[in-house]
Amino acid sequence: QKGGYPFFMLKEIYEQPDAIRNTIAPRINQELPDFTEDGIDDAIFKDCKRISIVACGTAMHAGMVGKHLIEKKLRIPVHVDCASEFRYKDPIIDEETLTIVLSQSGETIDTLEALKLAKNRGSKVLSIVNVKGSTIARESDYVLYTHAGPEIAVASTKAYTVQVAAMYLIACRIGLVKGLITEHDAKRFMTKLTNASNIVEETLKCADDIKRVADHIKFATDTFYIGRGLDYTMSLEAALKLKEISYVHAEAYAAGELKHGTIALISENVPVIALATQEDVYAKVISNIREVKARGAYVVLVSMDEEVNDPSICDQHIRLPKMDSEFTSFATAVVLQLVAYYTSEAKGLDVDKPRNLAKSVTVE
Ligand code: F6R
Repeated sequence: QKGGYPFFMLKEIYEQPDAIRNTIAPRINQELPDFTEDGIDDAIFKDCKRISIVACGTAMHAGMVGKHLIEKKLRIPVHVDCASEFRYKDPIIDEETLTIVLSQSGETIDTLEALKLAKNRGSKVLSIVNVKGSTIARESDYVLYTHAGPEIAVASTKAYTVQVAAMYLIACRIGLVKGLITEHDAKRFMTKLTNASNIVEETLKCADDIKRVADHIKFATDTFYIGRGLDYTMSLEAALKLKEISYVHAEAYAAGELKHGTIALISENVPVIALATQEDVYAKVISNIREVKARGAYVVLVSMDEEVNDPSICDQHIRLPKMDSEFTSFATAVVLQLVAYYTSEAKGLDVDKPRNLAKSVTVE
């Protein structure tokens, strides 16, 4: 069942290139994103003035990648809420708001209740779901199924990257339908998205370097993930994954925000994993890294640089394949998943079944 892998989680990490391909390919028609087969009416995209994204945990983090993309590319306001807050805060949504709900299982109770609330307020609901025929899929106006296949490990990996892929598809379709991007640009975007599965394959080759990172992190009590823009979004998922399966405390911080308090926690050998994949803020992140390095942090730099041998910047470097900054989420996802996986494995934990957690959260 585990196909020769010691844990389902590792198997599922390695299944990602196929899962991404299977999710994207059926939605490409003449090089453009197309949801005709999914029965999704373009009117929900054409008519929306703002977007509300609701989900829990890892699925919410995939939604945050969507927010980053849609706001940056299309300049449409996007609000992301965790479902358990959305439900009880009298959310500001109406008929002009498109609600996007994400759920691997399609059964998470808070997400389901949030969906019902959004519908009651007149918002159209598009859900991104992995499990066919699940309650969330049935209750939504439209469904975009991800094709990750069954995910057994409690910690979500392949279901997350396909949710992210779905957000790229949706962002591109909204841009086209609203006339915010040209067909030419949409085709270029889709070519890069199609390449995501190859990027993931390439990144998986870093596994040995990442094992060395895990060998350091397994002794830590506190760790930090830092980044800016898309990398900050990825840091949130990175920290969740590490906490969840390795029981090492991890915090995600917007790199520029550290100096407003949290840097006080940086001392000798505290691991700081710095994501520096965004070209426009690269220099800023490097300067934040120097700040933590000067205070003794053990820095792991994740970037597309060919080689970094400067000890004032990092102790270890994970080199990502070269790609467009807009699409690094797929590569960083693999790195953060493997860091968490190998740390948990090195600690001798049951990677697939972390304590206190269930795969599907159907109680409030
Ligand atoms: C973490 C994880 C959870 C789920 C969350 C939502 O690895 O898997 O945070 O993402 O419980 O679950 P779904 O997507 O089934 O609604």
